[in-house]
Amino acid sequence: MTQTPAVDHEAEIAGRLAQLSLEQKISLMTGADIWALHAIPEIGLRRLVTSDGPAGVRGESWDERSPSANVPSPTALAASWDPVRVEKMGRLLAGEARRKGVDVLLAPTINLHRTPYGGRHFECFSEDPELTSMIGTAYVEGLQAEGVAATVKHFVANDSETDRFSVDALIDERVLRELYLVPFERLVAAGAWAIMAAYNKVNGTTMTENALQREVLKREWAFDGVIMSDWYATRSVAAAGEDLADLAMPGPESPWTEWLLDEVRSGQISESAVDGHVLRILRLAARVGALDGLEAATPVARRWSDQELTAELRFSSAAGMVLLSNDGLLPLDVGSLRQVAVIGPNGATARTLGGGSATVFPPYVVSPLDGLRAGLSEEIMIVQTHGVRSSERTEVAPVDLLQLPDGSGPGVEVIFLDAEDRELGRQQRQTGSMIWWGPVQEGLFAGDIDHLTLHTRLRIPDSGRYYVGSSGLGEFRLVVDGTTVFDEVITLELGADVVETLMKPPQQLAVVELEAGRDVLVELAYRPEANTALGGAEVTMLTLQLNVARLIDEQAEFDHAVHLAAESDVAVVVVGTSEEVESEGFDRTSLALPGRQDELVSAVAAANPRTVVVVNSGAPVLLPWANEVAAVLVSWFPGQEFGHALADVVSGAVEPGGRLPVTWPASEEGLPPVTPVNGELPYDEGLLIGYRWYLATDRAPAFPFGHGLGYTTWAYEDMAVDGDNVTVTVRNTGTRTGREVVQLYASRADSRVERAPRWLVGSAVVDAEPGAAAEASITVGDHNFRHWETSTHAWLTEPGTYGLHAGRSVVDLPLSTEISRD
Ligand code: BGC
Repeated sequence: MTQTPAVDHEAEIAGRLAQLSLEQKISLMTGADIWALHAIPEIGLRRLVTSDGPAGVRGESWDERSPSANVPSPTALAASWDPVRVEKMGRLLAGEARRKGVDVLLAPTINLHRTPYGGRHFECFSEDPELTSMIGTAYVEGLQAEGVAATVKHFVANDSETDRFSVDALIDERVLRELYLVPFERLVAAGAWAIMAAYNKVNGTTMTENALQREVLKREWAFDGVIMSDWYATRSVAAAGEDLADLAMPGPESPWTEWLLDEVRSGQISESAVDGHVLRILRLAARVGALDGLEAATPVARRWSDQELTAELRFSSAAGMVLLSNDGLLPLDVGSLRQVAVIGPNGATARTLGGGSATVFPPYVVSPLDGLRAGLSEEIMIVQTHGVRSSERTEVAPVDLLQLPDGSGPGVEVIFLDAEDRELGRQQRQTGSMIWWGPVQEGLFAGDIDHLTLHTRLRIPDSGRYYVGSSGLGEFRLVVDGTTVFDEVITLELGADVVETLMKPPQQLAVVELEAGRDVLVELAYRPEANTALGGAEVTMLTLQLNVARLIDEQAEFDHAVHLAAESDVAVVVVGTSEEVESEGFDRTSLALPGRQDELVSAVAAANPRTVVVVNSGAPVLLPWANEVAAVLVSWFPGQEFGHALADVVSGAVEPGGRLPVTWPASEEGLPPVTPVNGELPYDEGLLIGYRWYLATDRAPAFPFGHGLGYTTWAYEDMAVDGDNVTVTVRNTGTRTGREVVQLYASRADSRVERAPRWLVGSAVVDAEPGAAAEASITVGDHNFRHWETSTHAWLTEPGTYGLHAGRSVVDLPLSTEISRD
């Protein structure tokens, strides 16, 4: 892909710019609303719509009634190490974007896994800049090949969430160049049409005003697309300076709508700077086909049929699953099994997504339980229980327990009211969890709502004592079966990130006795707390949950799980995290699995040695029991087809295709911290993040970068170098057809600069039948060997000989040779 559109409209675009008044230009530089830009019909510009990203295309509302295909989260995509597969996902997302009227996807997220504590770890690809660039390029190319713009984010160093609006990442120039900027540089070279400037500061200056935009992005790399601010990250009019940020999002208000006109009139900011920004916005519009009369840069995406979508998502999900260990139990000998136990908190409740702006509402989700029921033989009895809870919080009420008040189907009815109790609108929703931000429905905005009421009929299957409650911020009155069970005000803890309160809103519960099969009327009156802060802006984001769960004897449940495991032929324990643990807006404080999950795995493994653990998290968690179980499979947050893909992998219909895109730590010792001190977060680990640190300090992680098993074995036979082309010959020495991810690392003995002991320079995926050989072809280039010379502020390739090492992980490299650079 090149930066120039297939059809060159530069002269036309300049002509349209020339028709705009200064006021119109300035209006275009701030969003018209939360997601869209202003239309200017006089120059044929229609409304340009953006949407998150990256695990699906949510569209303009947070609403389960407008579902979106949920693709595997970025760690899962990167784990495939397969650009061809990821490019297909990009195309699928382009189709989704067009279906939802979206022109610009706010993805991919290409910040690095500096540390596993990062809340958005699941949303980023890898700890390695080369792998991030390779997968990110495929994602962008797939999306843009079908007419939808990618927005590569967040430029730069938004690698953790704590104090994200103000934190100052202190990063050495060389480290910034060689690690954190690399994926941006590569994706600009690949032709990305937009970039999002981050909330944080780097070396003292907030990113929406940082000169890196001008000096590096626009001038050095010749980026010709749009730099948009992260949402509410534009803090001053100075951010609109020459070759800085082009677009302040969202709107309708930003510091630019207030002051930019005056600044231009008084000469503080030149009109040519404004023209530069608007030209880029019009270029973006032309590329996606939003400027009347100009052909889009690439053909508009085709629609995918449901069948095609399902098949692609199922395969992609399996392609990212990483088999960490296997004593031979997998693939299961399905014909020999009578009973399989599916245990663990994520067994019946699949976690397909992390939290925050990456949230989408899939049309359905296949849980591991559903998937194994459908995918293993009908002869096998599948028994299930969760054993332990993974959260202290009470779950959102499952919609199948809720009936609309008029009895017309499952769901809740919400009535929006103004301060005089006049109805503003109503919605029937098929969920117990709602978020309103911006438009709620035609003509009604979240900010217009004074209070609301929610009505539903609760019908539970088993009599007993239940928690019934609600979550959110503000004033709540809950009435169950005519009795007020609480009437309280819940306020925001000062300083909490609004996104954190969306993902885990404060909760209040009552215990009520319920009878099976009898409808109980539940009425909730809610007056939301007015405004909450997002990066200094006053934003109205409302969140409301209805929570229902049965009170149980937790020890009896634990014992029951162990009993089911003991009497089954195989136990599949699905452990993991959720969007309450892994999300935008906050970092993790521990890498341990929440709750008593570790204890459960050990007890199940002791009861049945034929235990497979499925780790359903978007980022590494500690696995203290890894040696006690027969197999460990990481599923990540694998999207809506999770259960089907899991059944394919454990039954052997498909190989687990993934390899770790991030080192899996054995302990929390020595990992880079995320907590700023006096507002500063020094990247003291320098160049040594991820596997670079483990190699340099001679530490053994739980599982190394690049690791992952398939169902066959491979011999690395030969490696040949011809110019910049490296060919690695591998042979399938097992009895099944298989897929191997051949990885190539470089090293430099006697370097005059500090370097990691080894670093990834490329990889290739090959397939081979039993006994057959396959050739992996990898092209390297100067960018793989260069280093940043701080004294001259320039790239330099140290002449001489570099080692090349090929194999299956950063520590399993059977073949070595040399390559020279001059
Ligand atoms: C996130 C971005 C996202 C934007 C719009 C911000 O809070 O950091 O990644 O695209 O919101 O939802």
